[in-house]
Amino acid sequence: MLRLGPVPLDPPLVLAPMAGVTDRDFRLIVRRIGGVGLVTMEFIASRALVRGVAKTLDLMHFVAEERPISIQIYGSDPDTMAEAARQVEAMGADVCDINMGCPANKVLKGCAGCALMGDLELARRIVAAVRRAISIPLTVKFRLGLDHERPNFLELGRICEGEGAQAVALHARTARQMFSGDARERWGEIARLKAALAIPVIGNGDVREPADVLAMLAETGCDAVMIGRAATRNPWIFRQTADLMAGRAPEAASLAARRELILGHFQLVAAREESRWALHKLRKFTGWYTHGVPRGRELRQRINELEDVPSFLAAVEAFFEQFDEAA
Ligand SMILES: Cc1cc2nc3c(=O)[nH]c(=O)nc-3n(C[C@H](O)[C@H](O)[C@H](O)COP(=O)(O)O)c2cc1C
Repeated sequence: MLRLGPVPLDPPLVLAPMAGVTDRDFRLIVRRIGGVGLVTMEFIASRALVRGVAKTLDLMHFVAEERPISIQIYGSDPDTMAEAARQVEAMGADVCDINMGCPANKVLKGCAGCALMGDLELARRIVAAVRRAISIPLTVKFRLGLDHERPNFLELGRICEGEGAQAVALHARTARQMFSGDARERWGEIARLKAALAIPVIGNGDVREPADVLAMLAETGCDAVMIGRAATRNPWIFRQTADLMAGRAPEAASLAARRELILGHFQLVAAREESRWALHKLRKFTGWYTHGVPRGRELRQRINELEDVPSFLAAVEAFFEQFDEAA
């Protein structure tokens, strides 16, 4: 079984960090469905954490049921990153992850995220400072490079290994690509990284269904697979993949399971969030969750017109009731 230090990754499937998506409710939903070895929090600005910004601290709340959980931090100052990592450890996270893959301009301008691939010496100092600061496993997530002309992921991988990271995760795209192109055409680079390093490599990029996980493991020899966007459309993907890996036939999510998921997610969000924000979140997630559901478009259109939480709930109930009657 794959381990990051004392933390087992069983099965070796990781929920990718996604800002605005992998919040506490979504992580819990994925965890309750099962089949995921490690969940990751949306990325946390090291400076905001160190300054104790209330919104950031609130974002970082998690519960024991989510474990093992990785908290990802980003920033460009080694001391601030080290202090943020100390706090991550003090909060009880199982793994601390450093973001060196974010291609968003806002983050790049601060020389954080993927910009660190343009300054490997600074990247090295950050990994070293964070490693010294904590005793929990440390991982680093990055891309192929800033662009196709500068593919330096092998170098960065060796730096992470040399500075004591427990694993690295590679998203097989460059920063310039953002989310364009097909990462599957570059899975070969995950294989090259795996061949170059002794520490575990987590492969990432354009896994869309359970069979893709098996393909990535076979084609690249990577130790674990990280899934992002596919989990928003199908939070069952981890359990389905775990079944496939264990030689069992993966089960598609039934309409009843989808109904339960949406309403369950809604209750988690509504219990905590102020109602306008709750509606915004639920619209977003219901949109993803109903892809591929018969007449899902009708529900998506309907919920866009709704202004309050109880009508949203009623609309979801009514939508699924039509199938009960048909059955
Ligand atoms: C909405 C969204 C937010 C993301 N936020 C983060 C983030 O906070 N940190 C990070 O390292 N990657 C982030 N990513 C990148 C994902 O972790 C992942 O590397 C990428 O989506 C490719 O994997 P996928 O094809 O399985 O989605 C984000 C991606 C999306 C779509």
